[in-house]
Amino acid sequence: MLTNPTMEPVPARTKDQLRFITCGSVDDGKSTLIGRLLHDSKMIYHDQITALERDSIKYGSTGNNIDFALLVDGLEAEREQGITIDVAYRFFSTPRRSFMVADTPGHEQYTRNMATGASQAQLAIILIDARKGVMVQTRRHSFICALLGIRHIVLAVNKIDLVAYDKECFDRIARDYLAFAAGLGFTSIVPIPISARDGDNVVDRSARANWYHGPCLLEYLESIDIQSGTASQAFRFPVQWVNRPNPEFRGYAGTVASGEISAGDEIIVAASGRTTRVKRIVTHGGNLVGAEAGDAVTITLEDEIDIGRGDVLSRPDNQPEVADQFAAYVIWMDEEPLAPGRNYVLRIGSQTIAGSITEIRHRIDVNTCEHLAAGMVSLNEIAFCNVATTMPAVFDPYDVNRKTGSFIFIDRYTNRTAGAGMIAFPLRRAANIARQGLSVDRRERAALKNQKPCVIWFTGLSGAGKSAIANLVDQKLFAMSRHTMLLDGDNLRHGLSVDLGFSEADRVENIRRVGEVAKLMADSGLIVICSLISPTRAERDRVRTLVGKEEFIEVFVDTPIEECARRDPKGLYSKVKSGKIKNFTGIDACYEAPATPDIHVRTMEQTLEHSAKAVVDFLMARSILDG
Ligand code: ADX
Repeated sequence: MLTNPTMEPVPARTKDQLRFITCGSVDDGKSTLIGRLLHDSKMIYHDQITALERDSIKYGSTGNNIDFALLVDGLEAEREQGITIDVAYRFFSTPRRSFMVADTPGHEQYTRNMATGASQAQLAIILIDARKGVMVQTRRHSFICALLGIRHIVLAVNKIDLVAYDKECFDRIARDYLAFAAGLGFTSIVPIPISARDGDNVVDRSARANWYHGPCLLEYLESIDIQSGTASQAFRFPVQWVNRPNPEFRGYAGTVASGEISAGDEIIVAASGRTTRVKRIVTHGGNLVGAEAGDAVTITLEDEIDIGRGDVLSRPDNQPEVADQFAAYVIWMDEEPLAPGRNYVLRIGSQTIAGSITEIRHRIDVNTCEHLAAGMVSLNEIAFCNVATTMPAVFDPYDVNRKTGSFIFIDRYTNRTAGAGMIAFPLRRAANIARQGLSVDRRERAALKNQKPCVIWFTGLSGAGKSAIANLVDQKLFAMSRHTMLLDGDNLRHGLSVDLGFSEADRVENIRRVGEVAKLMADSGLIVICSLISPTRAERDRVRTLVGKEEFIEVFVDTPIEECARRDPKGLYSKVKSGKIKNFTGIDACYEAPATPDIHVRTMEQTLEHSAKAVVDFLMARSILDG
């Protein structure tokens, strides 16, 4: 008997379901339109759920198994972790088709909601008030729809009754929209004059707009030919779980993301390049001959090869990309802005990989589609970025495969979903740079100096006394004939970091640079002493990971801000007071004290000598000075 605690039942797929999103504000008549559709048609109203109630659908055995895009799967998984995505999904059907409509709040600040709704829609109804024509928000909605992979647009020119069914007005709006949307890559754009309030051309043909000979809205939604896409695409199977109930059985459980596969077919493991054949396709209900997009199955293979969670199976003649750098559109969803260099957990399909933004290529003004320079990406903003992962990721470009081409950012501390990404293309840069093997290794370099290298990282407020203590530690070690180097924040800002200021993004970059230099110095066998405010935990942890936690010693120089301001060794606090300095740590920029520093120096209670000695004692206790 196979047991799998995490595997969902095989979904009863609704073969012909159209998933669409309505875009427009309340004033444009969005709710009226949905109400009108439901009321006038023979639609059977199935269910109405909000994002907060979706579990019952997902795990229930209703016929409404939704083919959620990975993007939304991720968001859903993170829901308990603090993010509220305000999207209502409605399900209904006519004798010809079933529908799922995502209804999202239309205001500008709700980009993340709209993106979530759009990520699983195949078609968008863009509502326009006939009296107002193409507005800024029309552009915003269209741009987000295009970005999220929607290729079919219905331009519902609403309130046509309020412009006296004027054909000219309708034609002008349609022309304006087609001109604007030409560059967005839509496959079809169908303008329909409607009155949601009176019912013209929604379900029943309008007698009053008699110059219009196209389909009415429902007729069009029922008949538009939209390939469900995923079944006809290349086969992708992200492994969610290795099922190994006994030594005789080893199966790989997951849901087919796209394409189809049959027993006997050849497959390749994307990351390792190992190939083999599918032996069996196992489900709770017995073995299957084949499986296709949406099927939750366990696959067994002819050969025993090393496959784990996060691996992706494909066919050898159509493989996904494997790269540790790629360009992606990012929609930021967290109050805390996205800063280049900061470490996040990226969830790409079933892969969980640490990664960061190496460059914000540009931010996009969603109202005008303009490209803007940006140092950070704030809540609800969209940017085109370069992303680097700490190990190769397996993916497809989003416009090739929405499931394997999307990912989410998870904040390492709050565990919240902080953003969503759509991968544009892999970056080959890193792939073409190999690592050069060195003949003298770091152990030998350290042995020559007769010491164990480490990085002693002093953090604390400006004026807390970091530099003074670091300097005395350096002197003491030097006197003991130890090989050291002192990297002091203020000094480095005259050279290595001369181009950086004190914005959050600049500080992240400053600490990244100093961390890299410290690591190189430690590799050369030195005891490296760093003194930087380094206000954020995430960045200090990044250096800890870079250097290796065995060799990273965090010293928290703890001085209350009032005392720092009283001492004011560089006169900076009085400049802050008179408004001459902005973004000053502890005043109008945050400082996150270490929760568990290796050494906690309280300068109100300890003398300078005392503090420095505590650090040296710690090194001795750790046998770092022994060689
Ligand atoms: S960090 O935040 O990026 O780690 P770093 O330690 O390099 O900062 O530099 C901090 C030093 O720059 C302070 O000791 C202080 O002398 C000076 N300084 C100038 N402006 C600021 C500011 N706005 N915030 C903090 N320090 C500042």
